[in-house]
Amino acid sequence: MTTPGYRDMPPEAWDPQAPVDFGEAEEFLRMCYADNGKMGPVEPRLAVVRAQIAATGTYGHTPDELAYGARIAWRNSSRCIGRLYWRSLVVLDRRRARTPEEIFALVVRHLCMAGGTAAANREPGAIRPVISVFPQAQPGRPYARIWNDQLIRYAGYRDVNGGVTGDPRAVGFTESMRDLGWRGKGDAFDVLPIAIETPSEGVRLFELPERAVLEVPLAHPEFGWFAELGLRWHAVPAISNMRLTIGGVHYPLAPFNGWYMGTEIGARNLADPERYNMVPVVARMMGLDTSKPNTLWRDRVLVELNRAVLWSFERAGVKITDHHTESDRFLAHIRNEGRAGREVPADWSWIVPPMSGSATGVFHRYYHEADQRPNFYLDPDARELATKGHRAHPASAPAPQDLAREQHPAPQGAHHVPDRPAPTQRSAPMVPTQPTSPEPRTLPSPTLRPACPVRH
Ligand code: ARG
Repeated sequence: MTTPGYRDMPPEAWDPQAPVDFGEAEEFLRMCYADNGKMGPVEPRLAVVRAQIAATGTYGHTPDELAYGARIAWRNSSRCIGRLYWRSLVVLDRRRARTPEEIFALVVRHLCMAGGTAAANREPGAIRPVISVFPQAQPGRPYARIWNDQLIRYAGYRDVNGGVTGDPRAVGFTESMRDLGWRGKGDAFDVLPIAIETPSEGVRLFELPERAVLEVPLAHPEFGWFAELGLRWHAVPAISNMRLTIGGVHYPLAPFNGWYMGTEIGARNLADPERYNMVPVVARMMGLDTSKPNTLWRDRVLVELNRAVLWSFERAGVKITDHHTESDRFLAHIRNEGRAGREVPADWSWIVPPMSGSATGVFHRYYHEADQRPNFYLDPDARELATKGHRAHPASAPAPQDLAREQHPAPQGAHHVPDRPAPTQRSAPMVPTQPTSPEPRTLPSPTLRPACPVRH
């Protein structure tokens, strides 16, 4: 029997014109009030919500409903292995923010808080999961959004030979940011600007201050030459283009973050041929026989790249976990949820780490596949904006106030394609420095970027 899930039955596309479905609101509110006795009886609340939807097409969540809904949305995220701590999500209610300046200032606060750089009593690098929830979408009205897929991402610059400096995945977005007037340094790890679109001002670009971008320079516990590769990665992965949906209400701007699992950086971002493609470079430096695949040179490189990531983050005091620990935690989460009488919806192809799968417990079982709400969704137009940095037909671009109506609600199946590399052309190996050079270049300072001033 098939379980209605993301694979067999993709969720319906979001229609931004449609009023809130009272049935979905009711289902959420009943669950919320049943789980939180102190919120009181649900019936009076349902009557208010029903009247609000009838009058305005939507309704507003109380701060407690919002916080609960956001945590459940995380708990329902089938692709996330890190859900053991779903109760600890810090929910920042930013529903009053309107202007791009206000939104940007709160995004900076989010990153400082998430990175542990916002307060005197916390250590920079003590990453904690945070979500900032900006105004909900009103049916049929334009809404604010962020185009970037993550708050912190590195630019990618295509050079004349077709190679790429930086993150090849960001080439389209970077070009578009340059068309909009942004100038990056042209380095391999340039932090992209944040593109904030609001109904009143269209898209505006903002440069993140250094204090909001905690980064770790990468070195290896044994290979001295590794640091000379000049690799680094940012500490906070903060997804910024997924729509949070709670009880029929949609929040298109609700950036959220957790901490990194090492393989995301060491086995994907730095290793994938379509990303930084460092595997051949590191293999050369390790002196491995790359003439045939059966020497397992790729596998050996992956192990060392991942050791470098974990070791460097630990040395810098920045929270990160390895895939074995995160796998054990996820299995503990399944046990906890089982005791509470709940199934854990999960997508095997995303939960199993991208290296050493069978060495982790999460590999050796199947999961309940279901699309449960509240949840986070990546809409096709959000995906396109993050990839291209503009809409499909910039020549016939609509006036800013009409932008949000220009949705292309395509079947949502698209967003269920796992984040596996698309078979595109290989980027030229990116070697930030010539490691064999007799004069080693100045290494990036192993210290973290300066912390946020204490004014939270
Ligand atoms: N895999 C993405 C990246 O490498 C981040 C996705 C969210 N990851 C997380 N640990 N919360 O940037």
